[in-house]
Amino acid sequence: MSRRILVTAALPYANGHIHIGHLVEYIQTDVWVRYQRLAGNRTVFVCADDTHGTAIMLRAQQEGRSEDALIADMRAAHVADFSGFGIEFDNYGSTHCDENRALCGEFWGALRKAGLIDERNVEQLYDPVKKTFLADRFVKGKCPKCGTPDQYGDNCEKCSSTYNATDLIDPYSVFSGAKPELRSQVHYFIRTEDLHGFLNEWTQTGDHLQTDVANWLASAFLVDPLHDWDVSRPAPYFGFEIPDAPGNYWYVWFDAPIGYVASTHQWCQANGEKLEDWWKNPDVEIHHFIGKDITRFHTLFWPVMLKTAGFTLPKKIHIHGFLTVDGEKMSKSKGTFVRATTYLKHLDPQWLRYYYATKLTPKLDNIDLNLEEFADKIDGDLVGKIANLASRTAKFVETAGLAAKYPDDGGLFADVAAAGADIADAYETCDYNRAVRTIMLLADRANKFVADAEPWKLNKDPANAQRVQDICTVALNVFRQLVTYLAPVLPKLATEAGALLNDPITSWSQSQRPLVGTKIAKYTHLMTRVDRKKIAAMIEESKTEAAPAASAATDAGATQTWNDGPEPLAAEPLAPTCTIDDFTKVDLRVARIVAAEHVPEAKKLLRLTLSLGGEERRNVFAGIKSAYKPEDLVGRLIICVANLQPRKMKFGLSEGMVAAAGGGGPEGKEIFLLSPDSGAKPGHRVH
Ligand code: MSP
Ligand code: ZN
Repeated sequence: MSRRILVTAALPYANGHIHIGHLVEYIQTDVWVRYQRLAGNRTVFVCADDTHGTAIMLRAQQEGRSEDALIADMRAAHVADFSGFGIEFDNYGSTHCDENRALCGEFWGALRKAGLIDERNVEQLYDPVKKTFLADRFVKGKCPKCGTPDQYGDNCEKCSSTYNATDLIDPYSVFSGAKPELRSQVHYFIRTEDLHGFLNEWTQTGDHLQTDVANWLASAFLVDPLHDWDVSRPAPYFGFEIPDAPGNYWYVWFDAPIGYVASTHQWCQANGEKLEDWWKNPDVEIHHFIGKDITRFHTLFWPVMLKTAGFTLPKKIHIHGFLTVDGEKMSKSKGTFVRATTYLKHLDPQWLRYYYATKLTPKLDNIDLNLEEFADKIDGDLVGKIANLASRTAKFVETAGLAAKYPDDGGLFADVAAAGADIADAYETCDYNRAVRTIMLLADRANKFVADAEPWKLNKDPANAQRVQDICTVALNVFRQLVTYLAPVLPKLATEAGALLNDPITSWSQSQRPLVGTKIAKYTHLMTRVDRKKIAAMIEESKTEAAPAASAATDAGATQTWNDGPEPLAAEPLAPTCTIDDFTKVDLRVARIVAAEHVPEAKKLLRLTLSLGGEERRNVFAGIKSAYKPEDLVGRLIICVANLQPRKMKFGLSEGMVAAAGGGGPEGKEIFLLSPDSGAKPGHRVH
């Protein structure tokens, strides 16, 4: 009997572009959906952008436009990226929509009614410059355990200890660089502990989760009483205001999973369906696909919300590992942080779909993209084994077509058909690696059949016409079976193969019956070899695109020519020679601007407070007002003259100078502060 299946992939954040890491998930999910449809199961696939939270709010502010404009642009970019990779949703929504707001109200009402909402004051760090509360990952400072600077508010990357953001030494806001203040504010909590028994049951039985995930939840969370979950944030916050708690907003992770339901609702409205039939119906299987970083939200909090509000619980949450490239985390400087758009400029999207499929298993292990192996697999498998079957045989039956009766093939077709059940099971259980391996072994057998039969030799004698047609009929039929098995991964290849054979590939069952007597279209290339130079070009482009402006210049220096004019030097000729001793008298240091303000009485000056690390501060008046706004300076690292004799000015004592280039231009705007490359710390000497 055909199943009814609702599938979701995680909702990507609207504050960044889709990259090849995300694509692991969206390709994995799209393959699963396409497999289900091919197998005849009614399947709806929804997704949306995850739009709320502080990061979006501040980014919109910085770009000087509304959040709505920002998230509309991002959504359009995401939709284009997904479609470029053949990832097809039935509805792609946004968490910032009326359907979601209404559904959040429904979930909230149910949680209130069940008496699961508590209210109490919370002390949280607050950025006095940006006037916003700061989540842990927006606060940085020195690790309280090992002293490593620039660590996030929840854990230290150096010594791996975890702590509270309020424990950081010399904390600063990542948005403004300002020192956060501790402020107390009311927050709303869901008492998840009340559903502890339900979670024990749901996570540990019924095969809703991979075994490793179930075990991890049991040992890391379910052994102890569950913490209350903080689901509100005080204004200002970009999100939905809580109707019965004005001035407070649902935390982004409260409304994001409800976005799955809202997106389904939009699909229902567009297709004359009822939401209850999909989300409050035990006959529908709900399948979520997510990465391992967001496991807790989906396996503990979300089931509590669904259960309380009377929605169907997921049949399965499929969790995958993270992408590494050549064994390492994706890196901007190495050019491995590749955006979907950049990939599409250089390489064929089908290649990545295939490569990821060869790597994906039901395990949580990370998935490594090895770029050499990537190219070898495409050339060896897709060109050498699959396309080859058709390219070596189709031309001999261009006029005759396929034989009217399927010939004796020594049991080859039957064996490939028999493997279908095992391959189907591999897709169903997300073991795409096994599916593809099985398919390629069958392809080896088919290629051997063609190589042994040598139709290109037989073809030279017209007396062999029937024999040649039979051989090609076998080869093209097995090709068609294998392409059907690969269709979830390579839908474009399946369409093209269907056109070649004059019989569209639309169902898994087509792999079980031979195709006979059809005309064959003229063969055109189905799959091309990988041009290694294009991989290199993609990596190079990713380096320049992602790197901050300052270091992009140094990276590109080797290959680019510059058209620098003589004017700056002419305007200010070089000074007389100085000795090294003259130079070292000037003690240049890296410093952080920790405060910046206008000096109302001075036309050109800003007052800067510089930190040289620890308690060491300098008050400096800098003539950069025409070029910089104080709020843009706070948090920046600059270079200062740290041993300059202090000078008394009308407005106070100036205890140094900041290094800047230029200093001219029509409005005095051509002033460029110097910054060290990333990694430098306040107090470092400049040699
Ligand atoms: N907005 C949340 C999800 C809300 S779902 C109600 C989020 N967004 S995300 O954009 O950061 O990630 C979207 C999905 O992509 C997540 O499942 C995440 O695990 C996955 N991936 C993001 N980077 C990834 C890799 N480098 N590798 C594999 N998957 C990755 O989380
Ligand atoms: Zn540490």
